[in-house]
Amino acid sequence: MSGLALRNVSKRFGDTPVLDDVSLEIGADELLVVLGPSGCGKSTLLRAIAGLETIDEGQILIDGVRVDRLAPGKRGVAMVFQSYALYPHMSVRENMAFGLINIGTARAEIDRRIAQAAKMLEMEHLLGRRPSELSGGQRQRVAIGRAIVKEPKVFMFDEPLSNLDAALRSRTRQEIAGLHRRIRTAMIFVTHDQTEAMSLADRIVVMNQRRIEQIGTPLEIYASPATEFVATFVGSPAMNILPVAQATADGAFLRVALGDGTQLETSLPASAIKDGALRLGLRPEAVRLCAPGAGDTNATVEFVEFLGDKTHVHLALSRGDRVVALAAAPCTARPGDETGLVLDAAAGHLFGSDGRNLKAAPA
Ligand SMILES: Nc1ncnc2c1ncn2[C@@H]1O[C@H](COP(=O)(O)OP(=O)(O)OP(=O)(O)O)[C@@H](O)[C@H]1O
Ligand SMILES: [Mg+2]
Repeated sequence: MSGLALRNVSKRFGDTPVLDDVSLEIGADELLVVLGPSGCGKSTLLRAIAGLETIDEGQILIDGVRVDRLAPGKRGVAMVFQSYALYPHMSVRENMAFGLINIGTARAEIDRRIAQAAKMLEMEHLLGRRPSELSGGQRQRVAIGRAIVKEPKVFMFDEPLSNLDAALRSRTRQEIAGLHRRIRTAMIFVTHDQTEAMSLADRIVVMNQRRIEQIGTPLEIYASPATEFVATFVGSPAMNILPVAQATADGAFLRVALGDGTQLETSLPASAIKDGALRLGLRPEAVRLCAPGAGDTNATVEFVEFLGDKTHVHLALSRGDRVVALAAAPCTARPGDETGLVLDAAAGHLFGSDGRNLKAAPA
C-alpha cells in the first residue's frame, strides 16, 4: 500500500515506556493530526518515523517498504520542528539547500526546487537573509520550505505553530491546509491544540499516555468519542461528566439516576447495562436552562461567561455536581439564580469503569 503504516510500535527510554503498541495507517495524500496532552509521546512518535529515534518493537513501512532500520536520510520523510532548528550562520537559501547538498543532489536540481518552494511559500525575497533577520512567522516558513525541497513521501510537523501569535497561527494553519492540497503528500501534524486538530485533519489520532485512544475523522472524534479521555480532551468547554448513582434496565432504554435523584433516559438499549460505576457525559449543548421546576432538575447559577455569540453558564446541582450549559448570546441568568435544567441524556454518553464509551464498539 502507498502511504505510511505503523505496526505495533513500542519504544522505551531505558526502563520508561514512551510508545506502547502503536498501530496506524496514513493514506498517501492524507493529513493526519496527532493530538494529545504534553508528554504523551507525540514527538517521540514523529522522531521514530523520521529515524531520529530507534524503536524497540514493531514495524514502520512507507509505500509498503520497511524503513525502521534505514538511516533518516533514506526514509523519504521530512520534518518541521517547533523550534524551526535553522542554521543561524547560513542564509535562507543555504538552509534550504543544506540537506540536499548532503545527499549529493545536483546543483541545478537544488536551485529548481528552492525556486519552486520559495514561490509556493511567497518567500523569494527572503532567500538572501539570515534567520536572525526574519520574524518568527518567516522563520517558520523557511523551516517548511526546507522540508518541501526534500520532496518527501511523508511530511511531518511537530507543533510548528506554537511560537506564533493567535492571528498568525490561524493564517499559517490555513496555509498548511493549502500546501497539503497542492502537494498531496501524506502529512502528519502534531499538536496539543484541539482547534488546530479539528480544523486541519482528515483524521485525528488522539494519544494519551503512550497509547492511541482513538483514530477518526474530526466529526467521529467529537460525536462518538471512544473513551472518557477523548470525550473530555476534545471540545471546549469540556464535556460535563456526572457520576451515575444507579442504572436501571426496566424499559427499552437504559435509565440512569444522578446523585440528586434526577432520573434520565439515555439512548442506549437497556441491554447495554454494565457492572461497576458509570459516568454520564453531556456536552454543554446538551444542557439547557429553563424555568425552575420545568426541567429534569434544578440548579444554582455560579457564574456566567458572555462570549459575544454565545454564553457559558456554570451551574451547581443540589448534590454538588457541576455542569456547564451553552446558552444563547443574550442570557439573563445571573450568579445565585435558581434555574431549571434540561439534561438531554439521549444525546449524551455513558462511560464504564474502564473509561470506555458504552456506545462505542468494544476495543
Ligand atoms: N531522550 C529522552 N530520554 C528519556 N525520556 C524521554 C526522552 N525524550 C522524551 N522522553 C520522555 O518521553 C515522554 C514522551 O515525550 P514526548 O516528547 O514524545 O512527548 P510529547 O507528547 O511530544 O509532549 P509535548 O506536547 O510536551 O511536546 C515524556 O515523558 C518525556 O519525558
Ligand atoms: Mg512534543
